[in-house]
Amino acid sequence: MPADDRQHDDLYADLDRRRAESRLGGGQARLDRQHERGKLSARERIEILLDPGSFVETGAFVRHQATGFGLEKSRPYGDGVVTGWGAVDGRTVYVFSQDFTVFGGSLGLAHAEKIVRLMQLALENGGPVIGLNDSGGARIQEGVAALGGYADIFLQNTLASGVVPQISAVLGPCAGGAVYSPAITDFTFMARGTSYMFVTGPNVVKTVTNEEVTQEELGGADTHASKSGVCHRAFANEGALLLGIRELLGYLPSNCEDGAPMRPTTDPASRADAELDTLVPTNANKPYDIHEVVRRVVDDGQFFEIHPDFAANLVVGFARLGGRSVGVVANQPAVLAGVLDIDASVKGARFVRFCDAFEIPLVVFEDVPGFLPGTDQEWNGIIRHGAKLLYAFCEATVPKITVITRKAYGGAYDVMNSKHIRADLNLAWPTAEIAVMGPKGAVEIIRKREISAADDPAAAEAEFTEEYRERFANPYVAAERGYVDDVIRPSETRARLIGALQMLKNKVQTLPRKKHGNLPL
Ligand code: HXC
Repeated sequence: MPADDRQHDDLYADLDRRRAESRLGGGQARLDRQHERGKLSARERIEILLDPGSFVETGAFVRHQATGFGLEKSRPYGDGVVTGWGAVDGRTVYVFSQDFTVFGGSLGLAHAEKIVRLMQLALENGGPVIGLNDSGGARIQEGVAALGGYADIFLQNTLASGVVPQISAVLGPCAGGAVYSPAITDFTFMARGTSYMFVTGPNVVKTVTNEEVTQEELGGADTHASKSGVCHRAFANEGALLLGIRELLGYLPSNCEDGAPMRPTTDPASRADAELDTLVPTNANKPYDIHEVVRRVVDDGQFFEIHPDFAANLVVGFARLGGRSVGVVANQPAVLAGVLDIDASVKGARFVRFCDAFEIPLVVFEDVPGFLPGTDQEWNGIIRHGAKLLYAFCEATVPKITVITRKAYGGAYDVMNSKHIRADLNLAWPTAEIAVMGPKGAVEIIRKREISAADDPAAAEAEFTEEYRERFANPYVAAERGYVDDVIRPSETRARLIGALQMLKNKVQTLPRKKHGNLPL
């Protein structure tokens, strides 16, 4: 073999050796420990997330330049995070995946720079960023450089917000400031039993507040999916979570200008579901499950719910109508009679703003008795939190359609995408009741004197209630004024929505020139 060729062989052998070293991360023993805990490796996660063979790595040979605390003797390739791009259903996405086997996935400067570069690439090329977080937080040995690295990421998260979708998976510990990158992103998913998020861990909590709490109770997947709302969905395991991200991405555009992908369906646009015609009880006090309505209307009954376990009195999520992605916002009469409270308002507002930022039309199913009364709600600010949902609907310029299935009472009528705040099409089912309040409450106020003066107050109240019901508890008073565009049979809903979305597909609506509005935070 000629000498020159031998040199090439050496070069390629050296490259292969370095690549293998980079792929090994923190070594087999630490990898085994990761598996023993029911966790996948950083690279295994990427393989499940992306289309087979599509991943292209960047920065595989990056090493930290830090010294002190023995760091100069340990400079693993990759610096504890795998970064690169690949495809989900053929569309390009940008991924970083922290490697817990290298310094516990902790974030040093080089690690942070890799993530920042990836995010800049995503922003410049208009593709979603998916962060797979598994990290002990700021790399303690690197001190302030690590803190700076986090801040650099937070800035990129903020700059990318509303430009490209950002999805965070929390797949291990996520402590301290490390929680704030996921918190700025659009969606945070967690896996049960292995994901934790907290600003301070159980030990600090014990010292400061004297509370005894486990990691799971303080910041596990179910805690954040049901109590705090920090997590948008909890999954049984990492595999299910990663497939969940793929499913979610199917509803989203790559960036704020592209438009969500159309998914052809064999579900006919004209499909009339006769069950819908009897699904809403005529007795306004009887509950029903709004999921059932949503599933019967949308393509193939498929609904990807966001926050299913948090503020379940409002249901939000993605579906398709005639192949088009839509964001569904629906009051849930089966939980707290579908009332709007603080959590539901904040949940709804954030979802509406996401859809508006990414040009995903909004479809609202409305059955709402009003805002939840009480000192707890008032003292915790239902006024400013409810205003978030109102602001979000007012501000949204995407196609906006409302279907009033039953109650549309009071301020909640205005808030839930009413005609007055620029909804494009407002439909009502014949079961709709659009009024300032329900018949009983209204009569107790406006007929109070007459009822107490009557010989038979109960009979008088019943008579006045019936009169009010006749007069207001229907959709026709609103329809007469044009606040409702049409009253339809429930079984016609799917066809009407698909037709309207087709009509609205070129909608252009602008907001007054401004730097940005001042959302009531
Ligand atoms: C450097 C770290 C590290 C860190 C873990 N490791 N966290 N190295 N900086 N922050 C290393 C460990 O030394 C160990 O190295 C390996 O990762 C695995 O850690 P273990 O402790 O053995 O694992 P485990 O028992 O599973 O515990 C995981 C853990 C724990 C819960 C994450 O390590 C831990 O509490 N780490 C510190 C968490 C923390 O307080 N971080 C700072 C938060 S403040 P070897 O070589 O033994 O394998 C913060 C500020 C950000 O992040 C500010 C932004 C605004």
